[in-house]
Amino acid sequence: MNARPSLTRYLVEQQRVHGLIPPELRLLIEVVARACKRIAISVNKGALGEVLGSAGSENVQGEVQKKLDIIANEVLIDANEWGGHLAAMASEEMEGIYVVPNRYPQGEYLLLFDPLDGSSNIDVNVSIGTIFSVLRRRNEDPTRVDPVCVSDFLQPGHQQVAAGYCIYGPQTVLVLTVGNGVAMFTLDREQGSWILTQENVRIPPDTKEFAINMSNMRHWDAPVRRYVDECLAGKEGPRGKDFNMRWIASMVADVHRILSRGGIFMYPWDKREPEKPGKLRLMYEANPMGWLVEQAGGAATNGRQRILDVVPTHLHERVSVILGSKNEVERVTAYHLEAD
Ligand code: AHG
Ligand code: MN
Ligand code: MN
Ligand code: MN
Repeated sequence: MNARPSLTRYLVEQQRVHGLIPPELRLLIEVVARACKRIAISVNKGALGEVLGSAGSENVQGEVQKKLDIIANEVLIDANEWGGHLAAMASEEMEGIYVVPNRYPQGEYLLLFDPLDGSSNIDVNVSIGTIFSVLRRRNEDPTRVDPVCVSDFLQPGHQQVAAGYCIYGPQTVLVLTVGNGVAMFTLDREQGSWILTQENVRIPPDTKEFAINMSNMRHWDAPVRRYVDECLAGKEGPRGKDFNMRWIASMVADVHRILSRGGIFMYPWDKREPEKPGKLRLMYEANPMGWLVEQAGGAATNGRQRILDVVPTHLHERVSVILGSKNEVERVTAYHLEAD
């Protein structure tokens, strides 16, 4: 018998011992975790399953959809449609919201997800993942009978009640917070169960490792350029230490490294599409990752304010992202504020 606690036991403890999550939310997280196991099976098939390559369609972001983007999206919808805990879902791969068929009373939660993050890495066998965020349905007017609408989703990230990701890498690991720190669960493939392998994850406040797509350097704003130049100057420069650089182009993999050993991740606004605040999506990438990083003692800003305080105006809103080791994020943020 595996002495290590399972996901279920961890969630029951958060429910009963810490009073953090009601049974409905515990069950919703279990459904999402089961869906991630199902996605992992498709991911691991690779060329042996019909999962590689493009689906020949575009999503609302104007991105070419990979077959696995669509498969992962369908797995999450199928798993949650009858879970009974949800009122509606939103996804990177769907333009509008998916209101759960209200044959039964609808659940009180809203689930948002990036079903497959890091799609450009699918065909080259580099780690990818699923990111999810859970909000409570805002129902100030309980007499309201109309179904859930998009405006119910437009809540700032500090309203999240659960957030996490599943990374499909050499190990399949589910990383989760319900507001009581960050826990990591490794998939035991023989038993098909999630085993608690790390609790109270902590990000060191300082780091020597930065993550940014350097090919965009000529497009960056001055504060980002200043920060990265200082890192590149190494111990002879103003930082007095040498830095290392990593960029996996899967936010899930870069964030997993930062949760595991510290670092700073930046996908800032740049001049390529000046009308867009950044590339990454607020509701189902920056908010869940920002809460996880904060719960692990790190920080997450858009260069000027806490990501979790950004009030969304639309479902697929983009945002500039600077997250990770607290002292480094604060330094980059200070450079932005000084430049204003
Ligand atoms: P997605 O595959 O869900 O569209 O997200 C990809 C994102 C993120 O995972 C990653 O950090 C970033 O795009 C990489 O962008 P570049 O390819 O521009 O480096
Ligand atoms: Mn995409
Ligand atoms: Mn993504
Ligand atoms: Mn995606």
